Amino acid sequence: MAHVSAQPVADTDLSDLTLWRDGPPHEVLDRLRLQAPVHWSEMTTYDGQAGFWSLTRHADVRQASMDWETFSSERGGMLLVDGLGVPMELQRDVLISMDPPRHARFKGLFQRAFTPRTIAAHEVAIREITVAAVQRVAARGEGDLVVDIGAPVTARVIGSLLGTDPADDERLGHWGNSALAFEDPEYRPDMDAFWRMMADATTYTLEAVAARRSDPRDDLMTALAQAEINGDRFTDGEIIMQMGILVAGGTDSTKSVYTNLMHHLLQTPADLERLLADPSLIPQAIEEALRCFPAFGYQRRTATRDVELGGQQIREGDKVALWLVAGNRDPEVYEHPHTFDLDRRPDHQAFGAGGRHFCLGAALARLELRVLMEETLRALPMLELAGPARRTSSTFLNQFKSIPVKVGDPTA
Ligand code: HEM
Repeated sequence: MAHVSAQPVADTDLSDLTLWRDGPPHEVLDRLRLQAPVHWSEMTTYDGQAGFWSLTRHADVRQASMDWETFSSERGGMLLVDGLGVPMELQRDVLISMDPPRHARFKGLFQRAFTPRTIAAHEVAIREITVAAVQRVAARGEGDLVVDIGAPVTARVIGSLLGTDPADDERLGHWGNSALAFEDPEYRPDMDAFWRMMADATTYTLEAVAARRSDPRDDLMTALAQAEINGDRFTDGEIIMQMGILVAGGTDSTKSVYTNLMHHLLQTPADLERLLADPSLIPQAIEEALRCFPAFGYQRRTATRDVELGGQQIREGDKVALWLVAGNRDPEVYEHPHTFDLDRRPDHQAFGAGGRHFCLGAALARLELRVLMEETLRALPMLELAGPARRTSSTFLNQFKSIPVKVGDPTA
């Protein structure tokens, strides 16, 4: 660990967006893990927001993930800022911000709709959607990996499961960006923009649900409209928020890992050539991409009692950030953690570090990522970067908003 700078970490505030301008600040995260693996910081970038603990060790992230009774999802929700991201009165109705027993009831309902068989049955549709997008870029000779492939493919895949109209994909994609990319003024200029988006999502979802109640179809919206817990139907508010997490979780995350992996390959010809020569390596490239470039920087929990962790006294009510981007690069677990290694078979924390909130869409995401990579490499083997990539300004989302590419000339 000699490369890790000895600069002190006491004043480090990971909510400072300037640290994240070029992606996760791995040098800072390494220093924290070494010097103060359970680290307290004030939230200096926001007025009136309480500070937070940062966990950067793989083992601590896992311990907090597994212990929902001490580290609650319900008490403070999923974001480090209170009130500014998705207000708690709305988050309360989202699966990811619930604790048992409510969490168990909601998750059970979803799991019935997300069985491995249902997901596998969708492969043909996912491939058709993906081929159409990559062919459009191939025909044009240029495009943007985020705007032309990652975003439209993931939006249509979740839209086809929900049963929404393809003409609405962009509108639904906007909901996810506006909710989760709340630190980026391009996606969230102000809180009014968030409330306008919520009004649109509410009207849209309630109309769609009413249509399915009178005329049920074989889609996820109908399942949400008809779902019952102990004889109770979901309330309208609960349906709107579950729809929100499926749209946001189903698009932003998978899009991020696909585009991060492609960006890495376009800058690392040796890895790209190996994958082109042997596409059977794609599943392990995806797992290594999930380790190196997880879609979410952190997951938040809130302490429900005083607890000691890593020699630090966490108090009841304290915010705790489980930094997945750091756990995934802990040298205690991964040799040369900052190297993307196609031969590694990592057990990573990208879908959560275990426990009850483990990603509901992991099987769907892995299938989409495999098809996206297979079809991109097949149709666009000579792809090149065509300009600087731009990142979403965020501590929560580890994603690009634009990666311009040109298709490349096979005869050159
Ligand atoms: C590469 C893609 C994806 C990544 C990296 C990812 C990551 C995550 C993470 C980190 C969590 C929280 C885990 C925790 O706190 O323990 C989560 C939860 C969740 N994800 Fe994903 N996700 C992905 C794709 C998807 C897709 C495609 C869907 C939907 C169809 C989805 C739906 C959900 C839902 C509903 C939850 C909440 C589960 C719960 O609270 O029990 N995700 N995901």
